[in-house]
Amino acid sequence: MKTRTPLVMANWKQHGSEAALTDWLTSVSAMDLPKMCRVLCVPLPYLAKLRQHRAELQSQVQAGSQLVSAFCGGAYTGEVSAAMLSEFQVAYTLVGHSERRQWLDETASARRSQLNALWQAGITPVLCVGETALEHQQGQTFEVLLRQLSEVLDGQTAGSLVLAYEPVFAIGSGKPLSAQSAQHIHQQLRLMLGRWYSAADCQRIRILYGGSVNKQNAGEYLRQDDIDGVLVGSGSLQAGGFNALCHTVAQAVTPLAPA
Ligand code: 13P
Repeated sequence: MKTRTPLVMANWKQHGSEAALTDWLTSVSAMDLPKMCRVLCVPLPYLAKLRQHRAELQSQVQAGSQLVSAFCGGAYTGEVSAAMLSEFQVAYTLVGHSERRQWLDETASARRSQLNALWQAGITPVLCVGETALEHQQGQTFEVLLRQLSEVLDGQTAGSLVLAYEPVFAIGSGKPLSAQSAQHIHQQLRLMLGRWYSAADCQRIRILYGGSVNKQNAGEYLRQDDIDGVLVGSGSLQAGGFNALCHTVAQAVTPLAPA
């Protein structure tokens, strides 16, 4: 049986508004799911409101950020440091999301620095990895994943980590990877982590699946041995849908009472 606490992360990407945040958090916080960790990654301007509402609602939903500066502070116009994020009680921050690699030219060197900055601030990075459709078709999945891990973890004193496997072709396409295929890849990822982490840490690190996760398929992922949660984009935008998704996850991870 898995001992890792399931983690369901909502990634709003560049969506939402203050009003939407208020409604969403009120609705999602009302659902009591003590055996699971839920995180909302909002666009940066909403972090203050998120902190305020979390306190008012005594919400169990944790705060997440979608980005962090590679720099710890200084004359870097427009950047937001890890220390600033921790002032807003950010517990998790996405690093290396394929959309940032694709559209914002984020480099491996920037990702390495972001990891370091987060570790120094006591925030857990959620490191996103995943191959493209072409790489997948050409059988390069494991080679690509190992490269993506190596380029940010080699030579580092690695700290707390969540890994998110998001095959690029499954993101926003409505074509998720099957739970069985994802399990096979997660199992390999856990083995790969052994290059940087102790065997005990590898068992503790949560590996999330992301890419067209919805309330219908979320439970099936969580039933797999090495899938410890999900990273959800469009399926997280509406509170009702997200609640239903979390409910499915809760059911999938709750052991059935003996007959
Ligand atoms: P979708 O759930 O919209 O496919 O997005 C996945 C994702 O990129 C989460 O980070």
